[in-house]
Amino acid sequence: MTWLITGGAGYIGAHVVRAMIEAGERTVVYDDLSTGVAERVPRGVQLVVGSTLDGERVARALTVHDVSGVIHLAAKKRVGESMDLPLHYYRENVEGLRVLLEAVTAAGVPSFVFSSSAAVYGMPDEPLVTEETPCLPMSPYGETKLVGEWLVRATARATSLSTASLRYFNVAGAATPELADTGVSNLIPMVFERLTDNAPPRIFGDDYETPDGTCVRDYIHVVDLAEAHVAAARTLQSSPGRHLTLNIGRGEGVSVREMIDHINAITGYDRPPTTTPRRPGDPARVVASADRAATELAWKAKHDIQDMITSAWEGWVRVHPEAARR
Ligand code: WQD
Repeated sequence: MTWLITGGAGYIGAHVVRAMIEAGERTVVYDDLSTGVAERVPRGVQLVVGSTLDGERVARALTVHDVSGVIHLAAKKRVGESMDLPLHYYRENVEGLRVLLEAVTAAGVPSFVFSSSAAVYGMPDEPLVTEETPCLPMSPYGETKLVGEWLVRATARATSLSTASLRYFNVAGAATPELADTGVSNLIPMVFERLTDNAPPRIFGDDYETPDGTCVRDYIHVVDLAEAHVAAARTLQSSPGRHLTLNIGRGEGVSVREMIDHINAITGYDRPPTTTPRRPGDPARVVASADRAATELAWKAKHDIQDMITSAWEGWVRVHPEAARR
C-alpha cells in the first residue's frame, strides 16, 4: 500500500517519510514547498508539489498513486505568527484539512493520521497531561489543531475512516544533520543562535512555580516521533475502525535552565544564561502522560535529551560552521 505524506518536505514530515521507508512502506510526498524543502525528500520518493487547499490536485494524487493511507502534517506551525495572522492559520490548517478530508473520503482512503499538538491543551493545570485533560488552546495555532481534531473525529463518525490524532509535545533533534530543523523559533535553536553570536542564552522568566523557577517541557526526539507515526499507520491498517487521540511525548519534564545547562555542556560553550521577563502566553509546565500511546501503539520513545541536543547541534554546525570554531 502507498501512504501519502502531506508536509513530507518539512522538518518533521521528512523524518516520517524516512521512518516509513525504513519500515518498508511505500510513500509519496505532497507538499506546497512554502516552508518545506524539496531536497529533504529522499531519492526514489515522488514529490507532488501542491497545497491541500487544492482539492483536485489532492484527489488526483490519491488516485494516481493508489493511496490507501494519508499522514497529514502539512500546516502552519508558528504560535506567535498565528496571533497576527489568525485567518491565514484557519485557512491553511482548518480549510486545508477539510478539503483534504473531502478528497480522502471521496476516494475511499481507509486510514488517516493527523498531526496535532500539545498546544491544544493551552495552560494545563496538571503535572502530567492526559488525553482527557481539558483542551483550552491559547493561540489561533492551537485552536486550528483542536478544530482539526474535531474535523477528523466528525469525519470518522460519518464514514468508515480510521483515524489517529497525534498530539506532539516539544519536538527536537534530527536523524541526520541534513534533516535538522532550519527554523530558529524553539528553545534549542534559539540557544544555539545566541551561543554562535557570543551572546548569553536567554531564559524567558525564572519566577514560575516550578522547581528551578523556569518553564518545564516534555522534549521528544523527532526520530521517536516519526516512529510513533509508523506505529499509528500500522495500527490503523491492521485494525480498521480505530479512532485514536494520543499524546506523543516522553513523560519527562525538563526545565529551560536544565536544557541550557545540557546545551552548554554538549556544545562546549559554557556560557551562563541571562534571565529576561516572561514571554507572554508560556505555561509553567507541559509534560505528557505517554501511557496511552504506549498501550495503543506499543511505542515508546528511546532517545534522551543528549541525543536531541547533539543531533540538533550537528545540524546547526552544518549550516553555521562558524559555531564550531572554538
Ligand atoms: C520552550 C520553553 C520558552 C527560547 C511551542 C508551541 C508548541 C509546539 C512547540 C508547534 C518556553 C523557553 C525559549 C529561549 C527560553 N509547536 N525559552 N529562551 O513554547 O513550549 O512550544 O513549540 O507545533 O505548540 O507552543 O516551545 O521551544 O518555544 O519554548 O527561555 O531563548 O523555552 O519560554 O518556556 P513551547 P519553545
